[in-house]
Amino acid sequence: MSLNRVKVGIDGLDQMMDGGLVPGSITAIIGSYGTGKTSFALQFLWSGVLLGEHTIYISLEEREERIYEYMSQKGWDYKQYMNQFITVLKLDPSDFNLAISQIKNELPELIRSLGASRVVIDPISLFEDLFESNAMRRQEMFRFVEVLHDQQCTVVMTSETDQDNPYASRHNLIEYLCDTVIILRYVRPSDLTEVHLALEVVKMRLSSHSREIKPYEIQQDQIRVHSEANVF
Ligand SMILES: Nc1ncnc2c1ncn2[C@@H]1O[C@H](COP(=O)(O)OP(=O)(O)O)[C@@H](O)[C@H]1O
Ligand SMILES: [Mg+2]
Repeated sequence: MSLNRVKVGIDGLDQMMDGGLVPGSITAIIGSYGTGKTSFALQFLWSGVLLGEHTIYISLEEREERIYEYMSQKGWDYKQYMNQFITVLKLDPSDFNLAISQIKNELPELIRSLGASRVVIDPISLFEDLFESNAMRRQEMFRFVEVLHDQQCTVVMTSETDQDNPYASRHNLIEYLCDTVIILRYVRPSDLTEVHLALEVVKMRLSSHSREIKPYEIQQDQIRVHSEANVF
């Protein structure tokens, strides 16, 4: 295990990544609806909160009440930590310029002013949707990731999958830009009695990591990665 890792706070997953995320790195969590992207992302922030860190959650999809509902369901006493867990509300995708400038210009400023060490953007794919052309999306996202890299914080962004490929993000872009890529997906065994969830760490710059496919469960109070078990 490497020292100095930023722990996601999900046991089996941190083990698969040599102890956790590389400080200052950017991670993409890619999966289709319901695979637990929001759950993973919130767990990552909450682990930081409990260590006394400041965290920012940019929610492009869920309303603030839903996030707090989710946290209390997990048994997390978020009210006690309101100054460490900042939620930034949904951007307004109907106002393209405003949404882009909010996330591009105001986020770095917010990170600096709070001294935030963990940031989540959930899901980045809704932000990527805003761009009118692939060329513009690529150019803007490249710059945005560079700006995030200049901050002193560890970032997790989630993305929906490509319509035709469960191993690719919706715009086939962030997997190239991010340092670490974690894929969440459904596994439908041939007996078809139950759908399972499985994850893999497919990319991790500057780090050794497991390439195994591991089953996980989203439980009422936590996510459990069964690092001792195999999917098949
Ligand atoms: N309290 C809970 N107990 C068990 N499973 C849950 C609970 N809350 C959510 N889930 C599971 O997690 C899924 C949604 O997870 P979420 O993190 O919102 O996924 P995503 O962000 O990828 O759409 C639900 O479809 C459900 O299967
Ligand atoms: Mg979600």
